[in-house]
Amino acid sequence: MRKIVFSGMRPTGKLHLGHLVGALSNWLELQQKYPCIFSIVDWHAFMGEYEQSHDINANIMDMAIDWLACGIDPDKSTLFVQSQVPEHLELAMILGCLTPLGWLERNPTYKEQLREITTRDLQTFAFLGYPVLQAADILLYKANLVPIGEDQLPHLELTREISRRFNHIFKKEVFTDCEAILTQTPRLLGLDGRKMSKSYQNAINLSDSKDDIEKKVKMMFTDPKRIKLSDPGHPEECNVYTYYEVFAPGQKEAVYEWCTKAQKGCTDCKKILAEHLVKYLEPIREKREKLVKDKDRVRDILEAGRKKASVMAKKTIEEVKEVIFK
Ligand code: TRP
Ligand code: SF4
Repeated sequence: MRKIVFSGMRPTGKLHLGHLVGALSNWLELQQKYPCIFSIVDWHAFMGEYEQSHDINANIMDMAIDWLACGIDPDKSTLFVQSQVPEHLELAMILGCLTPLGWLERNPTYKEQLREITTRDLQTFAFLGYPVLQAADILLYKANLVPIGEDQLPHLELTREISRRFNHIFKKEVFTDCEAILTQTPRLLGLDGRKMSKSYQNAINLSDSKDDIEKKVKMMFTDPKRIKLSDPGHPEECNVYTYYEVFAPGQKEAVYEWCTKAQKGCTDCKKILAEHLVKYLEPIREKREKLVKDKDRVRDILEAGRKKASVMAKKTIEEVKEVIFK
């Protein structure tokens, strides 16, 4: 049997380089090999920020445009919006009936979020069940492979536990085990050396202009031990060098040389990096601009995706109801 790939992303804002390197590059490879289903999981966004729900619609459009601009191909992959396939909520509720509270309360990702995020209200019934909806996303399509970040591993483990519990209770192998696919590329840090994130305002967005990119790269932290131009630098400790490794690997040796031999200063080094980044992002930006002017096309793609996803989702729900009420 051919393996199916499923993944989802919360529409919380414009995509940045971290998303491109971390998730999308993985997706692009997978869509060459497997049937892929990629969902803009707006209910998951709503769960965590129900008071900012007015942003979600614009974010969905931005996300779809970013995906397409990066090369997610609607002829190969199914792209759709989670809330447009109501079976996600239906299956989540069904799975919720047989998911022990203790499993959810013990979830390390949940505990960490409650601890770390203080600006939003996460003390809700649905937020505790976040991984149940995520399990429903995956199981609705009987996906086998799930590309995710490491922080999502506990959710995937819960998905397996929930699906096994379902099969066990109803004595039928309705669901199969799914497997995580972790990104191989090292995590790309933000301008200030912390995790790249919209909320830290340290991200370079895929939609940034040449000017934005130049300004942002100028702000990047470099090797703190290199103070004067004549001080040799340590590329392995410099975030700028990591960017070269990812976005201009052909320049690695040259950068290493001019840095460790103090032949070029950090300002020049960053100027050159900015040029490479602008060039790297140029095709994405061009595609993006075309799509921004043709949102009807984007909506058509999402509608076609919704139809395909719906057929599969309905089939699974039928099967689930059959084993439950037989
Ligand atoms: N929770 C995931 C995240 O925050 C997003 C997500 C929702 C997801 N449903 C999914 C990822 C199903 C993989 C599969 O990154
Ligand atoms: Fe980093 Fe480049 Fe400066 Fe070396 S020269 S410390 S690689 S910015």
